[in-house]
Amino acid sequence: MTVGNKYRAVHARSLSDPEGFWAEQAASIDWSKRWDKVLDGTNPPFYRWFAGGELNACHNALDRHVDGGRAEQVALIYDSPLTDTKKKFTYRELRDQVARIAGMIAAQGVGKGDRVILYMPMIPEAVMGMLACARLGAIHSVVFGGFAAKELSSRIDDCAPKLILTASCGIEPTRIVHYKPLVDQAIEQAKHKVPRVVLLQRSQSAATMVPGRDLDWNEALAKAQPAACVPVKATDPLYILYTSGTTGQPKGVVRDTGGYCVALSWSMKNLYGVEPGEVYWCASDVGWVVGHSYIVYGPLIHGATTILYEGKPVGTPDAGAFWRVISEHKAMALFTAPTAFRAIKREDPDGKLLKNYDLSKFRTLFLAGERGDPPTVEWAQKLLGVPVVDHWWQTETGWAICGNFQGLEPMPVKLGSTSVPSPGWHLDVLDENGHPMKPGEVGALAGKLPLPPGTFPTLWNADERYRQSYMSEFPGYYKTGDAGFIDEDGYVSVMTRVDDVINVAGHRLSTGQIEEVLGAHNDVAECAVIGIADELKGQVPLGFLVLKAGVNRPPQEITAEVVQMVRDRIGPVAFFKSALVVQRLPKTRSGKILRGTMQKMADSQPWTLPATIEDPAVLDEIKDGLKTAGFANK
Ligand code: COA
Ligand code: AMP
Repeated sequence: MTVGNKYRAVHARSLSDPEGFWAEQAASIDWSKRWDKVLDGTNPPFYRWFAGGELNACHNALDRHVDGGRAEQVALIYDSPLTDTKKKFTYRELRDQVARIAGMIAAQGVGKGDRVILYMPMIPEAVMGMLACARLGAIHSVVFGGFAAKELSSRIDDCAPKLILTASCGIEPTRIVHYKPLVDQAIEQAKHKVPRVVLLQRSQSAATMVPGRDLDWNEALAKAQPAACVPVKATDPLYILYTSGTTGQPKGVVRDTGGYCVALSWSMKNLYGVEPGEVYWCASDVGWVVGHSYIVYGPLIHGATTILYEGKPVGTPDAGAFWRVISEHKAMALFTAPTAFRAIKREDPDGKLLKNYDLSKFRTLFLAGERGDPPTVEWAQKLLGVPVVDHWWQTETGWAICGNFQGLEPMPVKLGSTSVPSPGWHLDVLDENGHPMKPGEVGALAGKLPLPPGTFPTLWNADERYRQSYMSEFPGYYKTGDAGFIDEDGYVSVMTRVDDVINVAGHRLSTGQIEEVLGAHNDVAECAVIGIADELKGQVPLGFLVLKAGVNRPPQEITAEVVQMVRDRIGPVAFFKSALVVQRLPKTRSGKILRGTMQKMADSQPWTLPATIEDPAVLDEIKDGLKTAGFANK
């Protein structure tokens, strides 16, 4: 049998007989009611998987393993170099704690279909809070701790939660991030009034409580009775996770329950090559989709042991931190972003620290979140001597669109490529008229509908936005927003975004959203934001400001103010540190800002004068501005 045949047979079957294929995979999940229809395609593009079925995600992640012989197996390892803490929870302990937290949440009047926002650091209570919501059939929405109050408030208004679960602080290597004042501000700013906040006081910082609205986590928990799992429809939302849109209004990606559990279960075995009982480590954050799928739900549904790491790849305490965690907990795989490896490589280019650790159980490194740049992938391959698998992901898709299926059939890794499509994904590269392109040609990457289980059935309260943003440009396809090519062997390379999304340290940001903040400054008439190449973070945002006529304050005062505004309104995660004041922005004759050309200039890449440019002299001004500020050298 030639390499790849087994994968190709599985993939082909998933496209020719999707219902048969996914019904077979669904046998790995406990259902309280079997589905009526595997795929309901009566209302495209709103496809529904396992329609009529009922199940509970928390039961599948915890209770069935407790009942099925894994009660004393470790389910969750909390490893926090930032607080010098390590804790282990068996499946029984985790189930019991989650059941009590679910009781505490239910006592606040939260039930099936109600929304709960979690704004929490990487502590066990965050994972437990998510699973406790799932237990009740409530819909959780986790907001990443690096987002500011305004971002939190826009999410509060969009999903109208009955409850917020939070902690007094998060811990960054150089500072304590006080969460509670941000929660208070966000609730204040939001139109939707949040009736209840449950606050976990961490020993590093005590937060003040708002009487009548806030409860202390431990006190509320002490009074709570354990709650049982509530069956929900397979098509009911398990969570909402917000991601960058093209405007300041984030998109609430909805994840349904049944299809997601089935897809994650399939992927744990076939993509990540994990056996139940093994230790699997995803070094992301529960605030991101990768954290939802592969810190929380995937490993637990599969009966594996998951690691929750509250630390960084470097500086906690050094660039050997990842090797320490892998060896100490005997992890068989690590899933992280290339930026983390670039950070390690920068501090320990020869990988000397690796020699202090025993990585004999470690089989595979998985990278995602941004392009796995070949130098970083090669460095990791040489250092670790295991397959390094780059796989392509989006918040919208819930699990990998493409990957190299280590448990099914490992295929050769091609540098710069995310390997081959996951089951259920029929990918095409389309030109601007929606016609499929030839192998090797770069165009828009699009997935033929229906997408496989686990992918987003809609956006929260925004069916039309779902249709418009993703499903209308190429009829019959999901527009991924990424551009790339597919080679003769069917390997998919993801090169860049086609919209104004940039990728900063594996975090997805919208330049349009940053522009909205800059444009709100009193002295700014016009602005543009681009992502420029950065050795560590992949890209970082850079702003260009045109000031209003008559403004004659020192430019550095204004740039410092806009930097602070972005930090206050979007959050430190935006990593917006630089802006340039310019006289004019380069535009086409129809008024479109030439961001692409500016980006090439800033990255010192070759660029050509766009034929439609309104005034070529503006580009010279931009070039001079970039040079003076040290951004471009050609
Ligand atoms: N809460 C509050 N603030 C946070 C935060 C959190 N959970 N996470 C990050 N921040 C802050 C950081 O402190 C930093 O603030 P600063 O500007 O005051 O220094 C800012 O947000 C940017 O953070 P980050 O991009 O994480 O940069 P860093 O310099 O702290 O660390 C890396 C660099 C490469 C180590 C880090 O980005 C990393 O580990 N990235 C991996 C990303 C990842 O796993 N993505 C998931 C996709 S798989
Ligand atoms: P997010 O929704 O935050 O997970 O970000 C998704 C985006 O990250 C994708 O649309 C891509 O632009 C980028 N991305 C994720 N994984 C990869 C990868 N392996 N290669 C290239 N880009 C990636």
